Amino acid sequence: MIEQNKPIGLFDSGVGGLTVAHHVMQILPLENTIYFGDSARVPYGSKSTETVQFYTKQAINFLERKAVKLIIIACNTASAVALEYASSIASVPVIGVIEPGARGAVEASTSGRIGVIGTQGTVRSEAYQNAITAFNPSAKVFAHPCPLLVGFAEEGLIDHPATELIAREYLEELLDHSIDSLIMGCTHYPILKPTLAKVAGTSVQLIDPGLETAKHVQQILAEKDLLKSAPSPASHEYYLSDFPHKFIEIGSRFLGSKMHRVEKISLESLSCE
Ligand code: DGL
Repeated sequence: MIEQNKPIGLFDSGVGGLTVAHHVMQILPLENTIYFGDSARVPYGSKSTETVQFYTKQAINFLERKAVKLIIIACNTASAVALEYASSIASVPVIGVIEPGARGAVEASTSGRIGVIGTQGTVRSEAYQNAITAFNPSAKVFAHPCPLLVGFAEEGLIDHPATELIAREYLEELLDHSIDSLIMGCTHYPILKPTLAKVAGTSVQLIDPGLETAKHVQQILAEKDLLKSAPSPASHEYYLSDFPHKFIEIGSRFLGSKMHRVEKISLESLSCE
């Protein structure tokens, strides 16, 4: 198959990366995609760097066996702790969500006071903090982990009083620092955007790293002359390391359209080099 017509690979710890796949499909509607969700081993957000790097290596190998032309690490946690490593082992370009998200926030912020919310792993890694200050050395970054929001997003409690209560608790400290932009630094948080926007208020712009990443990928593919050339409709395949309860229902909600062609793969098959 000619290089341009190969699929884009996406990888996440589970269902969350489908919010990133959504933007990729909107911005690059002709591109074929292959999504791998490591649903057997989710969450990554509370795991050690070594473990997430090991899982990421297996995901990269799996997607390379599927002959993808570029890999998006849709998971914020894996992007934060394993992007450099993943790029060093892959033979195709690997794009994470941190840098595009950080750039989007720096461009949106007029005061340079930027908030970041994410998993424990993402916040602890300081990857967003480092990427933001690389783009704007005088930026002030305030970060807070919001682990409970993952469950609220999966439960579909988008506009629910319980979600609002927890979001207020988590965001209070960041808002006290007068941030004017807030990175939704976890794949699940854009699902809760209505509540996050309500709690953050109109003076805070919410940044979706998935959207910024899709725009960045479009640019990279164009620069490398890798945009799909065949006019055929896009095909999308989904591989999961487990079939958890309600995955298709939650996944279709995160993706914004129905998931077809979903296949479970075994953890043993991920181990083959
Ligand atoms: N996909 C993860 C992220 O964006 C959230 C879920 C998890 O902890 O694995 O960081």
